[in-house]
Amino acid sequence: MIRPVLRMGDARLLQLAREIVRFDTPELAALIADMKETMRALDGVGLAAPQIGVGLRVVVFGFDSSPRYPEAESIPCTVLINPVLTPLSEEIEDGWEGCLSVPGLRGLVPRWRHLRYVGFDPQGRRVDKTAEGFQARVVQHETDHLDGVLYPMRIKDMSRFGFTDILFPEQAV
Ligand code: NI
Repeated sequence: MIRPVLRMGDARLLQLAREIVRFDTPELAALIADMKETMRALDGVGLAAPQIGVGLRVVVFGFDSSPRYPEAESIPCTVLINPVLTPLSEEIEDGWEGCLSVPGLRGLVPRWRHLRYVGFDPQGRRVDKTAEGFQARVVQHETDHLDGVLYPMRIKDMSRFGFTDILFPEQAV
């Protein structure tokens, strides 16, 4: 089921989400199915459970090609539960981000370039992977949602925050 996505200003986006303690349940499967369906319907590259009003530490991300990020390389569809991120180098990279909860806007956000992410899949199996570049950015953006952090809070230079169609008039997004 496609669920309504909460928009910035809604207090539920600012809360700390709770860890999943029971895996492989019908409720968790239904939540993940709704998150994937909602993300795809809106051409998102990732979605966190708090964005649909569910305060649990579940994120989904991945896409084949994205009209919202036409330059980005594809990312396999991934479900990540109770994620913990660790940077693998000191390198910080600026990149443009948007968010389904902040529609119509983009901002330049500094993120770790390389990271390790650990967590669980929906069956409760351990996930332990590394990511870099745009994928690392997406994992950081989605994990931030679980801690009540929206990307505009991470922008260092507010002159690099604006409406997508003004910032990128050449892109039909
Ligand atoms: Ni977001």
